[in-house]
Amino acid sequence: MSNPRILILGPPGAGKGTQSANIAEEYGVEHVTTGDALRANKDMDISDMDTEYDTPREYMEAGDLVPDAVVNAIVDEALNSADGFVLDGYPRNIEQAEELEGMTDLDVVLSLDVSREELVDRLTGRRVCDDCGANFHVEFSPPEEAGVCDECGGDLIQRDDDNEASVRNRLDVFDENTAPVIDHYEGHAGFVAIDGEQAPDGVWGDIRDAIEAETA
Ligand code: AP5
Repeated sequence: MSNPRILILGPPGAGKGTQSANIAEEYGVEHVTTGDALRANKDMDISDMDTEYDTPREYMEAGDLVPDAVVNAIVDEALNSADGFVLDGYPRNIEQAEELEGMTDLDVVLSLDVSREELVDRLTGRRVCDDCGANFHVEFSPPEEAGVCDECGGDLIQRDDDNEASVRNRLDVFDENTAPVIDHYEGHAGFVAIDGEQAPDGVWGDIRDAIEAETA
């Protein structure tokens, strides 16, 4: 089999980014993440797409979805050039799921399940490296030296949308728009629900077992 095409679903803070990094390293596939792509292009001019705001920044800082046309174009381009991938952050509504079906087939669909209060704790305590993007948590996965990245020595910062008000809005947006996407994929070949509330190594063990079983 060629490199696997993996979709990872789950609410904000479920560990999609953390586990996608493991998957990309273990299976040699590309990590395609709409969140990182949009953060790198927060101030791009999208006014010609007939959107409410002129850049992605306003949507993201509030925790709202960036318009579909912007995100669909990012994913289409990234998947076109990828030899196997783990797709993280997309699709986030049924319209995006339908769009994805026209772009690619999927070998494995992982759904991480975590309770709401755990998600709030994970997101408000997350710190990311401003230089290399490595992910930490002040309590669950602290760096050796507070505020300093273990990987590259860069500064650790809090994402603009990891304050409690934005986090709670992101979880409401997930319940309204993205939970139906998970229901939509439940009958898909290769769908596996993962208990995301375990420690990161436990989650990774279950994910690796699921990928091995679904791609055997
Ligand atoms: P995006 O960047 O995709 O954010 P998200 O979905 O809210 O997901 P997160 O990155 O916050 O969480 P995660 O599941 O990756 O968790 P992580 O591994 O970091 O999107 C941001 C914004 O961009 C959206 O709000 C929207 O505006 C826009 N956008 C993106 N895609 C879009 C789309 N398709 N359509 C429209 N708009 C879009 O883990 C979180 C923390 O928990 C970390 O600190 C980590 O160390 C810790 N942790 C992880 N696993 C565990 C564990 N098992 N136990 C304890 N702690 C853990």
